[in-house]
Amino acid sequence: MNKTVSGFSKLSKSEKINWIVDTYLPHNTSAKEVLMQYWNTDVKLQQLHDEFIENTITNYYLPFGVAPNFLINGKTYTIPMAIEESSVVAAASKAAKFWLDRGGFKTEVLSTTKIGQVHFKFNGSFETLSGYFNHIKPKLFEDTNAITTNMEKRGGGILDIELRDKTAEIDGYYQLHVSFETLDAMGANFINSCLEQFAKTFKSHASDYEGFSEEERDIDLIMSILSNYVPECIVRAEVSCAIEDLKESEQISGEDFATKFVQAVNIAEIEPYRAVTHNKGIMNGIDAVVLATGNDFRAIEAGVHAYAARNGRYSSLSHAKIENGVFRFWMDIPLALGTVGGLTGLHPLVKLALEILDNPSAKELMQITAVAGLAQNFAALRSLTTTGIQQGHMKMHLMNILNQFNANNEEKQALTEHFKTTTVTHTAVVEALSALRR
Ligand code: MEV
Repeated sequence: MNKTVSGFSKLSKSEKINWIVDTYLPHNTSAKEVLMQYWNTDVKLQQLHDEFIENTITNYYLPFGVAPNFLINGKTYTIPMAIEESSVVAAASKAAKFWLDRGGFKTEVLSTTKIGQVHFKFNGSFETLSGYFNHIKPKLFEDTNAITTNMEKRGGGILDIELRDKTAEIDGYYQLHVSFETLDAMGANFINSCLEQFAKTFKSHASDYEGFSEEERDIDLIMSILSNYVPECIVRAEVSCAIEDLKESEQISGEDFATKFVQAVNIAEIEPYRAVTHNKGIMNGIDAVVLATGNDFRAIEAGVHAYAARNGRYSSLSHAKIENGVFRFWMDIPLALGTVGGLTGLHPLVKLALEILDNPSAKELMQITAVAGLAQNFAALRSLTTTGIQQGHMKMHLMNILNQFNANNEEKQALTEHFKTTTVTHTAVVEALSALRR
């Protein structure tokens, strides 16, 4: 059977579903129902979601939860999180509560510069090209006036344009390396529009520049695009307290806990196998806030992991130390986030998430998001170095196992009670459920 199609995007939603079901799911009698049960009954709201992307056939739900009690620079926040992993919101809430009683989180935005590049090839020397670049630079700024006026009025815009020689790596390859300040916007459209205008101006004026020979006049543009690597768009989040204040139970002293915790962080600093999982835990918190606030989690992920490898070895994003009896745990992380533009003004839940956060500026959102990451990391390391991760994980996963076996509300209640004092494993849950049903 031919499983390809042409003109698919022009079909109606029902026609698309019919084609998919007929072509790939001919024996699945409930396929249409499964897809349609996620349609919103509010036709306008559904249309909004349909129009976010091409070929929408249904909506994909993720839980939207909140983690309360975050004290950040003296202000309390309830942080919205969109995520499917059962233990993440619970862990964030627990870490928030822990630090609420110990002075809360401190944060600081260290820098907010974003980068974009025009990549091109030039058939001549760097010196000749530099002459042209200096000649054309004012025109590059001038030709983007229409794009930058509004951003400049608010205090942002193009910070600098640099010419970079990359010929040592690729023959004839140069860049316009441009830095931007985009304020509350993530800025992708602004940056890309500026870059494409630079490329046009840069190429078109080369043809009558007197300092070029005939063959130097033809600049070969390759592409113009922002970079998601933002090592100069950094926020710092940290917590600290006297080590004796870390003590929470009789099982472990504050000092032993702090020592183990620091050792665990040190391991993630030098061992990439551990660092990846360690940072994944940080991203559990970060991605959940990034998604809930309508930002681009792929861009954030790509930028964060590149930053974690900036010294040539993939390493922990967070750090910890004990100094003069004080435990300090902190992280510097690149987060290019926006609170205007993109989905932020469009998606009703995103708008609500930002409202819950008191409509933060991009800088504030950077700080809140970094805290969610640090809190998640703290919660994970605290479990890992004390009880082990599975205790908390499996407790939260219990409901997923019960749902897998279609447990009703009474069964769920009985087994949640039962597993308060018994270790949760897949087998134990299945056995307890069968026993109950017998
Ligand atoms: C699970 O989603 C995240 C952890 O593996 C993070 C970590 O190991 O630090 C618990």
